[in-house]
Amino acid sequence: MPKLSVEQLDLQGKRVFLRADLNVPLAGRGVADDTRLRAVLPTLQHCLKAGASVILASHLGRPKGKPDPQHSLAPVANRLEELLGQPVPLAPDCVGEAVENLARALKPGECLLLENLRFHPGEEANDPAFAEALARLADCYVNDAFAASHRAHASLVALTQYLKPAAAGLLMRRELEALGQILDHPDRPLVAILGGAKVSDKLGLIHRFLGKVDCLLIGGAMAFTFLKALGHDPGRSLVEPELVDQARQVLAQARARGIQVGLPVDTVVASGPESAEAVRTVNVRQIPPGLMGVDIGQVTLARFKEALRPARTVIWNGPMGVFENPAFATGTIELARAVAGSSAFTVVGGGDTVAAVHQAGVAEKLGYLSTAGGAFLEFLEGRELPGVDALSEA
Ligand code: 3PG
Ligand code: MG
Repeated sequence: MPKLSVEQLDLQGKRVFLRADLNVPLAGRGVADDTRLRAVLPTLQHCLKAGASVILASHLGRPKGKPDPQHSLAPVANRLEELLGQPVPLAPDCVGEAVENLARALKPGECLLLENLRFHPGEEANDPAFAEALARLADCYVNDAFAASHRAHASLVALTQYLKPAAAGLLMRRELEALGQILDHPDRPLVAILGGAKVSDKLGLIHRFLGKVDCLLIGGAMAFTFLKALGHDPGRSLVEPELVDQARQVLAQARARGIQVGLPVDTVVASGPESAEAVRTVNVRQIPPGLMGVDIGQVTLARFKEALRPARTVIWNGPMGVFENPAFATGTIELARAVAGSSAFTVVGGGDTVAAVHQAGVAEKLGYLSTAGGAFLEFLEGRELPGVDALSEA
């Protein structure tokens, strides 16, 4: 059943509780990356223009249930104010009488940002009493925090019991549509690219992909567990020994289903992820015992680009190497350019991967950039996201 959308609500004169994911990286007193703030603007502006007052709420970081100035939303309030072009006052807390008074004093077209929801243990505990306290602030509920909706927390789940109706925001809808389309009725061939450090983070996704994709390209440190399964010695590369058997099974299943799997054939090696330079590029059969793979090699890159050529849909999550280190960024950045240059519908998700796409300067050339990390993976795995599940039916 489709979920109720914010566009279907009569917002005139209403106080809207807008749960967003404003969990952005900070740098000093500023916001290091405001992508998630820009992403919620359409919903925020929609509500304000429709004559609502908006009580905007989010978590930031993991302050563990008590107030912590390091995790204050103050920098977010300042940046949002610049982006929105109108005042975004920050409440001293997210519940309580003082905050209720601030919320009640709002006029149509005005907004208030609540302080970090995770300053209260009730948020992560999905505590009904905390949710009830939040509910006192508003008349209706909108969830635009797709990126946090894999968490069964009070502002995402319990609150919908007290504040009805609970509608999806515009960003939430875009995320659900773009990511839903990619696995439900993709244009084929569908090529998935997975990278990042750990196979364990991606196993659920890999299993789902085995039933969906035409081609699976695997890079990043997680590739070494697969290479080990093929009998190669990964040297000091990151390997998850307990998953080698599973990796072998994945490769066998892919073969049985006729899914093309691309693994690195060459790798850039170094003494560690923080080394200033690469030692050399070697064939994956010849990784020196004291060195580790830190990026895919040029031959691998060329093969991955070749595999992308016929694609009609591409989904990518996870860097190809330690791209935070400029010495080992080539594979990831070049791949970002190749994905962006493809005529396929391209979807990219995950904080690191999106950062790499920005670093490569190709964000505008992609079909869809998700704001989500953990939620992106869980949604694509086919899991029900508690925050989405809790929304009212249309
Ligand atoms: C994210 O950044 O992935 C979301 O905001 C969720 O944050 P969390 O992993 O701390 O729950
Ligand atoms: Mg996270």
